[in-house]
Amino acid sequence: MKQMINVALPKGRLGDQVYDMFELAGYPCAAIRENNRRLVFENEDAGVRYFWVKPSDVAIYVERGAADIGVAGKDILLEYRPEIYELLDLHIGKCNMCVAAKKEFYDDGKKTLRVATKFVHIAKAYYEQQGRDIDVIQLNGSIELAPLLGLSDVIVDIVETGKTLKENDLEPKQQIVPISARLISNKVSFKFKHTEISAIRDALQAQITIK
Ligand code: PRP
Repeated sequence: MKQMINVALPKGRLGDQVYDMFELAGYPCAAIRENNRRLVFENEDAGVRYFWVKPSDVAIYVERGAADIGVAGKDILLEYRPEIYELLDLHIGKCNMCVAAKKEFYDDGKKTLRVATKFVHIAKAYYEQQGRDIDVIQLNGSIELAPLLGLSDVIVDIVETGKTLKENDLEPKQQIVPISARLISNKVSFKFKHTEISAIRDALQAQITIK
């Protein structure tokens, strides 16, 4: 018997692109396009049930098995290191994890570097590798404000178009790692729903257009 696959989709712009890929891959669910506030959508014939979740929560749903598979940014996977399988790079949601600062800022390495970020582990791992002593300031948003107000020397954040940095007189100083959306799977689900999950992975892989 065919088993239903529970899919956690990241709510928002990336989620819409992700759903397009699932639809083209043969896993449509027409109701999802209706503009409503429902969070769960099911297509029994296609064997999928979609949930809209906050992008940063996708990995938690998948790790704990509330969803069998999901799509999460590599930034979230690097930051929280969930116990999941990473099945596929979808080559969408591309951006870079960067160090950025005011244009005139130069790190002479003399003082502890103050780093504002949402991505504490990524920042710590990066500077540890560089042997650079840092003071991490964890923020939840509007990270770009920190160097402007003197709260930090640099930020570690996602840069997509670079517009936010530019409009706030900041510039990228170093690139830490390229980021994109990944198909992930719960480890137990991957074993017990292997046929269905592999079929979804293969169908999505066929939709990938590498730009
Ligand atoms: C991210 C990031 C930057 C912005 C970069 O924020 O934190 O602020 O996008 O994009 P850009 O290079 O195209 O300007 P996001 O919109 O994800 O919201 P957040 O403030 O919740 O992190």
